[in-house]
Amino acid sequence: MPELNAPDDGLLRGFWYPALRGERVRGRRLETAMLLGIPLALGRDAAGRPFAVRDSCPHRGMPLSRGWFDGHHLECSYHGWKFEPVSGQCREIPSLMPDDQLDVGKIYATAFPCREHDGYFWVYVPERGASAEPREEAPRLATFSDRYTITHLSAQLPCHVDHGIIGLMDPAHGPFVHQAWWWRTRHSIHEKRKAFEPIPLGFRMSAHTPSSNSAPYKLLRLYAQAEGITTTIDFALPNRRHEQIHAGKWWFSSMTTVTPITAERCRIDVVAAWNLFRHVPLVLPIFRFFGEKFMRQDQRTMEIQAEGLKHNPSLMLIDDADRPAKWYFALKSAYLESRRTGQPMQHPIPGPVTLRWRS
Ligand code: FES
Ligand SMILES: [Fe+2]
Repeated sequence: MPELNAPDDGLLRGFWYPALRGERVRGRRLETAMLLGIPLALGRDAAGRPFAVRDSCPHRGMPLSRGWFDGHHLECSYHGWKFEPVSGQCREIPSLMPDDQLDVGKIYATAFPCREHDGYFWVYVPERGASAEPREEAPRLATFSDRYTITHLSAQLPCHVDHGIIGLMDPAHGPFVHQAWWWRTRHSIHEKRKAFEPIPLGFRMSAHTPSSNSAPYKLLRLYAQAEGITTTIDFALPNRRHEQIHAGKWWFSSMTTVTPITAERCRIDVVAAWNLFRHVPLVLPIFRFFGEKFMRQDQRTMEIQAEGLKHNPSLMLIDDADRPAKWYFALKSAYLESRRTGQPMQHPIPGPVTLRWRS
């Protein structure tokens, strides 16, 4: 049996990842992106279908993004081989003689399944040696009404995706990294108690009333005039966190993904939507201002952490604050084990658990 997911780089294949923002791909222009160390050329064909091919001509490795695209065929700039970009199938090799026996249609550029939604080009990265047919649909942001505001934020992190992900689910860094008068200070540290439960490929912080000591939640309570505000946070492999806040008919929903660019770099992407405050001016810029500030704080912290990680220190994860990080690693190995053996995945979280920590 071929090695489906190489243990060496610790990156999970067989999943969809956001490769880039769809708005960057305009007209016949080709864009490039890197996913799990795979260079990609991306575009949209004349029918508007998004496509992603390995940015490497199967002839002699020329980047296909440096070629020409007429909306139907990608033409390599070296010897003019032409490819249909959604399937990757070769359609023409200009150097062939009419009586040549080579079957052009059997040659393929490596094409990846590609879909566009929630503002991203999603690319399915198959397991090594496995079919390129996706095993699941690309993930989606949950929305709960026809009209809403939507926005995107993004930041690159100079570390392996594992550090990006455990940084994302780490509850104890808030008072130190995200200190601000309008959010909270380190003096506001208090005991937290949250219920978690297993979900397929991940875990859920069960629906609860959000912590009352942060300004945004106080504001929300005032605005929604709803007593019951609930928030639910899910994490699922390979890399996504979904958060939903509901207050009567009002909702906020976000999907955060941490995507491996290479084994040494990752990118955090947030897409957030809400129907709250839609008629209040400046809500979008204010959200973006604070969202970006938050992400810069995390990014800066991880840049500094990367300095420390360069020298391969030994690390420790403690209970209960680092339990979600432990679950992440346990989920990853249980998943890889089930792919290796073909047996159903043994979920590492046996049932509902309550975690306690101070933050
Ligand atoms: S390298 Fe692309 S056609 Fe030769
Ligand atoms: Fe953070």
